[in-house]
Amino acid sequence: MLEKINALKEEITSATASDLKGVEELRIKYLSKKGAISLLMADFRSVPAEQKREVGQKLNELKTLATEKIASLKESFASDGDKEMEEFDLTRTATSLNPGTRHPLSIVKNEMLRIFEGMGFTIAEGPEIEDDWHVFGSLNFPPDHPARDMQDTFFIARNPADILLRTHTSSVQTRVMEKTQPPIRIVCPGRVYRNEAISARAHCFFHQVEGLYIDKNVSFADLRQVLLGFARQMFGPETKIRLRPSYFPFTEPSAEMDISCDICGGKGCAFCKGTGWVEILGCGMVDPNVLEACGIDSKVYSGYAFGMGIERITNLKYKVKDLRMFSENDIRFLREFESAR
Ligand code: PHE
Repeated sequence: MLEKINALKEEITSATASDLKGVEELRIKYLSKKGAISLLMADFRSVPAEQKREVGQKLNELKTLATEKIASLKESFASDGDKEMEEFDLTRTATSLNPGTRHPLSIVKNEMLRIFEGMGFTIAEGPEIEDDWHVFGSLNFPPDHPARDMQDTFFIARNPADILLRTHTSSVQTRVMEKTQPPIRIVCPGRVYRNEAISARAHCFFHQVEGLYIDKNVSFADLRQVLLGFARQMFGPETKIRLRPSYFPFTEPSAEMDISCDICGGKGCAFCKGTGWVEILGCGMVDPNVLEACGIDSKVYSGYAFGMGIERITNLKYKVKDLRMFSENDIRFLREFESAR
């Protein structure tokens, strides 16, 4: 028996085939039910008890040898396609593709736009590189008005038209008013630039959503109601608002709007500096000079405008303490918004 095994071992070790058919013939010869190894296995019964262990072990080794030999011969004839497929383990669980997450500012911007669209506003966009007229001139800033400095503008070219990076998206409102007669009801999302030192609370660029509604008989009460609706949808149905008188060259009267602090519920805490209120936006009735500058008859039409920073709204909603987080692309920060829309 052991001799037979050794002879077969040598035979199998040196076996060759010239094609896949030859390999299959070898398989049948050694490994099929009536193959040489199976026949030896069948004879195993007649092996004397004291040899059984040794013979059994040798037989198993022989079978492994034949199986591996045939597999390796088969592989040498396999087509490239087959080889490629063999490199993939089709039974493995798929790894997740990590499709990334939406940026928190996009999440909040989309939410803001959804709310305003629900109130009948359409979206208007315009260029980030602007001229003086669209950012300042048309919006009732006199030529040497200090407000131009107040907004710390980045100028690209001083002449002939003063090309600059827009400091607010009110410039988009001008562009729409120039081309369209009322009724106009738009929200203008976009990036704006101001020459400020970068810190936790200020950045040289940020994002805004500004709104404009012009029609016959538009009143301050309409403005208040729209802003109340926005605040409640954005921050919850219990949210209260308050309007404080303010100043903008392009609105008269002008106001700033606060919402009740949702951390302390208006009682006063560190976040709202004990006042119970946090400021979120500027607004007012469009100054007649602005309407006239854009070719709209201020005796027939009136309107309101409002503008807010998306970063500010995001800070309030998600309690982000440092503005720089929004532009540093720290993956750990961005992942925190995975579950948000
Ligand atoms: N344009 C103002 C700003 O950037 C915001 C604003 C818009 C205020 C409309 C009043 C009306 O600060």
